[in-house]
Amino acid sequence: ASIGVDGHPDFMSKEIAEQPDVAARIVDRLAPHVLDGSLWADLALPRFDRVTVIGCGTSLNAGRMIGGALSSLGRVPVRTLVASEAADAVMEPRTLVLALSQSGETADLLNAIERLDLSRSSLVAITNNEHSTLARQADSVLTCDAGPEIGVAATKTFVAQVITGVAAALSALVASERMLRSDAVRHSDELRLMPELLAHAIAVSHEVLPSIVAGVLDEPGFLFLGQGTGVVLAAEGALKLKELSYRWAEHQPAGELKHGPLALVDRGTPVLVIDSGDPRIDRSIAEVDARGGRIVRIGGPGSTVPVVGLGRPAGPMAGARRWGPLEAVVPLQIFARDLALALGRDVDKPRNLAKSVTVE
Ligand code: G6P
Repeated sequence: ASIGVDGHPDFMSKEIAEQPDVAARIVDRLAPHVLDGSLWADLALPRFDRVTVIGCGTSLNAGRMIGGALSSLGRVPVRTLVASEAADAVMEPRTLVLALSQSGETADLLNAIERLDLSRSSLVAITNNEHSTLARQADSVLTCDAGPEIGVAATKTFVAQVITGVAAALSALVASERMLRSDAVRHSDELRLMPELLAHAIAVSHEVLPSIVAGVLDEPGFLFLGQGTGVVLAAEGALKLKELSYRWAEHQPAGELKHGPLALVDRGTPVLVIDSGDPRIDRSIAEVDARGGRIVRIGGPGSTVPVVGLGRPAGPMAGARRWGPLEAVVPLQIFARDLALALGRDVDKPRNLAKSVTVE
């Protein structure tokens, strides 16, 4: 059967809207196997001492989110490789390689895997295509189960990769006793909340973003700031904005703002801040504010876009925050799409880009 937009104006709209259902499907399938370690044990992989994350584009960002969970929750040494730059990387023994690709056919990734010496490593593919070349080459495969994604800019597959990968990561940390059971319970509860959090984020974003987007149509450049895995979300937000609107966008760790990028901020410069609950973000916001920058704060209650933390236990830097807040990606996707549409762009088929790039 051919795939339609199901009453949506474009595939991207449909795929953004599908995210709560995609998350629910994955959580229902995987969450019961996290706390006993069986999700990980079933992959039948040897013990690992370190992790290397590898991928391109949005898949690389998804991998960085999973890597952030492994290092902050399990103290696992994690390295990230951009696939097109990975050829000379030195692989230490007992490395778990997490290779992420929606299509499983991206040439940069497949070539990197071929060139790296993986003889003492194990390779896990996190892909939306279990019949792909990547899946065939991997020792084990985690399928994302996001369904076909038609929009060139990845949305639901990012969410699916992160949830799948975090579930597997939690299970691995439990199985290897790198994580307290009580923490694992908390993070697994957090996973189960994702469908609801994503649905809430979609509703809030559609309510508050249109008027904000209308005010920035003529802005030539956009800045995205975050902390911890919020930096990764900032990167993903900037990538979506570039892909869809053809405007310049840059992402930075909030603390780095004062070391250079602050010079970009002028009266009206849009600065999207992912507030994951670390109070140090307020200082960066004040720096932007003092220069007349236009702050769009994506965070908890009282933020410009209050999508973070619905139904979560309160408290600063709740441990559960440390692999998210994944729901903050939703307003970033919707912001980029709304801006692109207002500028007359084709959001499903941005210029110069392809869904799957099978040349190096
Ligand atoms: C292309 C797409 C991106 C995607 C990247 C990686 O550049 O336009 O949206 O993130 O490839 O694709 P993959 O299939 O490996 O996830």
